Formats: sequence, structure tokens, C-alpha cells
Amino acid sequence: MKSKEVREKFIQFFKKKEHKIVSSSSLIPEDDTVLLTTAGMQQFVPYLTGEKSVLSEFKTRHLASVQKCFRTLDIEEIGDDTHYTFFEMLGNWSIGEDEEKGYFKKGAIELAIDFFVNEMGLSKERIYVTVFKGEKGIPRDDEAISIWTDKGFPKERIAEFGTEDNFWGPTSETGPCGPCSEIHYDRGQEYGCLEDCGPNCENCNRFVELWNLVFMEYNMEKDGSYTKLPQKNIDTGIGFERLVSLLQGKDSAYETDLFSSAIKKIEELSGKRYEENKKEFRVIADHARGSIFLIADSVLPSNKGAGYVLRRIIRRMIRYKKEMGIESLNEIVDIFIKEYSEFYHELENKNILKVIQEEEEKFEKTLEDGLKELKRIQEKGAMKNDKIDAGDAFYVYQTFGFPLEMIQEELEKSGLSVDEEKFKEAFYKHQEISRKGAEEKFGGLSKDVGEDEAKLHTATHLLHQALREVLGDHVIQRGSDINRERLRFDFSHSQSLSKEEIMEIERIVNEKIKEDLEVKEEKMSLEKAREKGVIALFQDDKMGDISVYYIGNFSAEACGGPHIKKTSELGKFTIKKEESSGAGVRRIKAVLN
Ligand code: ALA
Repeated sequence: MKSKEVREKFIQFFKKKEHKIVSSSSLIPEDDTVLLTTAGMQQFVPYLTGEKSVLSEFKTRHLASVQKCFRTLDIEEIGDDTHYTFFEMLGNWSIGEDEEKGYFKKGAIELAIDFFVNEMGLSKERIYVTVFKGEKGIPRDDEAISIWTDKGFPKERIAEFGTEDNFWGPTSETGPCGPCSEIHYDRGQEYGCLEDCGPNCENCNRFVELWNLVFMEYNMEKDGSYTKLPQKNIDTGIGFERLVSLLQGKDSAYETDLFSSAIKKIEELSGKRYEENKKEFRVIADHARGSIFLIADSVLPSNKGAGYVLRRIIRRMIRYKKEMGIESLNEIVDIFIKEYSEFYHELENKNILKVIQEEEEKFEKTLEDGLKELKRIQEKGAMKNDKIDAGDAFYVYQTFGFPLEMIQEELEKSGLSVDEEKFKEAFYKHQEISRKGAEEKFGGLSKDVGEDEAKLHTATHLLHQALREVLGDHVIQRGSDINRERLRFDFSHSQSLSKEEIMEIERIVNEKIKEDLEVKEEKMSLEKAREKGVIALFQDDKMGDISVYYIGNFSAEACGGPHIKKTSELGKFTIKKEESSGAGVRRIKAVLN
């Protein structure tokens, strides 16, 4: 099914079901607690909380929309199968009703089954659902479980999860939220890791999450507690890109009709093939699409807020364009404008190309010099350390206008990284702005950063040792980077890891976490450390003692810290991704929950 048809069928279906179709709101929300619109419900927040009357505004309590959304959390992840900055969300709402007056859980579930099975042609037997198992003082969603059961879903296809997976919202620190039920689709055993894996499996992509039905009954307060909203709401969201990928039989939306003309154009302009340059092509395509939508909503490249998001993606796209040997972005941008303006008329704004061109001109002047400077820094740093002096990185940011993630991406090519916290410190010292200013700009700085980072540091040592146990002693750290969300670890190994190896590594790390091992620091000379068989890779051969961190008797590694005190503080360790990071080097990204 063509993507246009999916949108159209969604709209017609909900019209037929007496919903008012509301146009997408701007990517810049009216509500200034969030920078960008990240979910379909954003424009309806005042109606969901009961602060404004949905009836006075819309004359009905039943709404549906195709909403433009933009997420920046992981700009550097763009390039894989499933991340996009800009994406669309199809959603329906029932605001302030119960099952008698209108619809709540049962009605929402019935509509979802009807649309997927009868309009999209999906097989009901392949639908699996997840429900809230009860946690943090909020009870198990027995009601949703019994509705799904009544609708013919056997218990093997109803899985229960906690707040992490099955409690949605709020989008900022406070706001409406609630337990949810997600609809996943089984793509088949051939995509799976083990016969009995299921929705939310972290080791394979057999199950795709398609539709989230949120039963919005709570409000999160400033102190983190939940209070009941004065009314019940249904808030749903289908990931449009994922649905289109599934319907077109593709692993990624980059391979569907949403991107195919642009990808073809990039092949033509670069003389290169998509198959061999997936990451570069996807970055260019994603960022071109994201840029036009931001500009159409009146964002201009700048050094602040949404303007800085735009600047970052345009600049990253220019960097990749150069790498692919493409002269100008115009034709690529133009394809997206033409295709999407049929549905989003705001794209007919003639200035879009001009805004991108101006930013291109500005940045191309300094790109070459900045890359040279980075090369110099790389050569200087390569011999010694896996972290670059944050001051040097800041200089490249300041002088050549390279966004932080771009600096990191360049440095990563030689296994180096920037200490993000120090970089941000340099930033706020230099600008004499508050810590909060740096946080807004680069994200991630929060009061518990120190602790989250310390945890990920300790987890990195556990991972390093587990890798050596599973793969062999040739595994040596080649790079490491930690931010608030995840750890990233590069190590010497020449093959991709099998699913079994990944699971075994996770198992060992989680076992060591459960054993509640003590983390102890001991100072000793480098010579002594080496004698004791301590892993001491990035230490200068200097006089004086180094710090060695022992985790029980499992791991001993020299490191500057910081670390936590006991492994039980770490929570659950999960490997999110394993990929190549250059010849003979593999990269793992992992998280703690
Ligand atoms: N607001 C819900 C989401 O974004 C539907 O997943």
C-alpha cells in the first residue's frame, strides 16, 4: 500500500467513525514546556487535562489527526533502520468520556483492531499486545487484559510490562499520562532470535510496535507523584513510518516510497549506491526532510532552541553531502518539498530552498578548515588518550561552527571522543551563561547526570571484562563514550557478534550486577598495576600513582572514574546495538534501566 493511501484511509476511517479530523499543529508547540512537537497529543494537552473545553473548541469529543513530529534525542543515531528526526504520527482521541457516553478502553481497542485488520489488511493472528502489569502505586490494567481476551486474543499474545514500556507520558516534567496498551505485529519467525521471543525483545526485530493506546487518567505533578485527572481520555499514536515499512514489506522506511525518489536522486548525484552507503544516504535524506518541515514552520538556523536543531541537521547533512561528493542539496530538498506539499501545504513556502542554501554557503566556508583542525587534534590525541581535550573540541565548535555531535562523529573515526560534560562546562564558562543554558542547547545536563554517568562507567568495566570472557583476551578497549542515556564502547574484534554471544555478555554483566559486588579504588604505580594484570590502557607512562578500580574480583581496570559503590545500584544492563566501527573494531551501545 502506498504511503499516501495509508494516510487517506486513516482519515476516511475515523471520519466514518464520527471523529473530527484536526490538521497537524506546528512542529513548534504553543506550550513552551517542550521545544518541539514529539507526539500527536501535544496540541490537545489543555483539553486532555480539562483546562479547556473540548466541546466548545471542536463540537465533539472524538478527534483524529495526522501529526508532524520531530525528535532530536538521538541525532547521531540517524542512519540506522528505525530512527528519524521528523516523522508522522496518526492518532485518535476520545476526550473526557467513559464507555457509556462515548468510548474509553474498549472502544479504542475495537477501533484499532477494525482499522488494522479491515482497512490495512493486517492479520489478526499476528497481532500481539502489551498491557500494564502494575507498578509504582498504579494497579495492573486488568480491564485492558479482559477486553483483549474478549476480543479473541489468547494469553500467549498478551504480554505484561511495567512503567518503562507500558506507561506513557508526560512529554515534559508534568502533564497528562497513563498506562498504555501497545499493538505489536509479528513479522515472522525468520526475523526472530529465539522461538519464544515476544514484543519488546531487545535482541531482534521480529515484533514491530505499531500503535500505542494510552489510557490517560493521570497527571504527573512537579514532585513526581501521580494524581487522577478530572476526566478520562484516550490518546493513541501510530508510528506512520513503521506502519508504511511493514505494509511495503521493508525493514526501514528509508526503503519505502516515503524516501525512494530522494534516495534515487542521491544515487544519481553522488554516483554511489545506496546499498553501500546506507548511513550517509539516510542522514542526507532524513535531515533534508526534517529541515524543510522546520523551515516551513518558520524556524531559521540560529544558535538557540529549535533554530539550533535546524542548524545542526543542515550542517550534518552538508558534511555528509560532501563525503558523498554531491555538489548541491537543492534537487534532493526539492523532491521532498514536492512530494510532501500535497499533504502539507505549508511546504509551498518559496523560502525553504533559500534558507538551506544560505546555511550551506555559510558553513561550507569553514567546513574545510574545521576538518583540517580536527585532523590535527586527532593526530595530537591519537597517541595518548581516548578522550580529546574538551577545550580543543570547543575551539572547533566556536571557530568553525561544528555542532558537538559532528565533532564527535569525526573523532570517532579514529576511536576518539570528547568528554561531553567538560565540553559543556567550557561552553557555559565561555558564554557566561547558566548551566541550564548549556543544557538546553546540548541536552543531557541534569542534576543526576553525575550519578547516571558513574553507573554507566562501572557498567563499561563490567562489559569490557564480559567481552573478554566471551570473545577472548584479544578484546581491548578502543574507545569509550558515555552520556546520560547510554554507554558506547569500541573494542578490537573482527567479526560481528552472534545473538548468542550478545545474550551471554548481557547475562554475565547482569549476573555481576545481581551479585552486588563492591567497587573499590586502589592507588598504585602503573608498573605495579601491569604486574598485577590490571587492564591499564590509556595511562600515560608517568610517575606517580594511578587509580585502579576493582569490581569484586571480576574486573580490575585503571581509570579516572567516577564509579558507583556497589553493582546492585546499576539496574538492568541491555545491549541496544552492536555494529562495526571501522576495520577490526566493533561498537556496542548499551543502557541501564
Ligand atoms: N501519545 C502516545 C505516543 O506518543 C500515543 O506514543
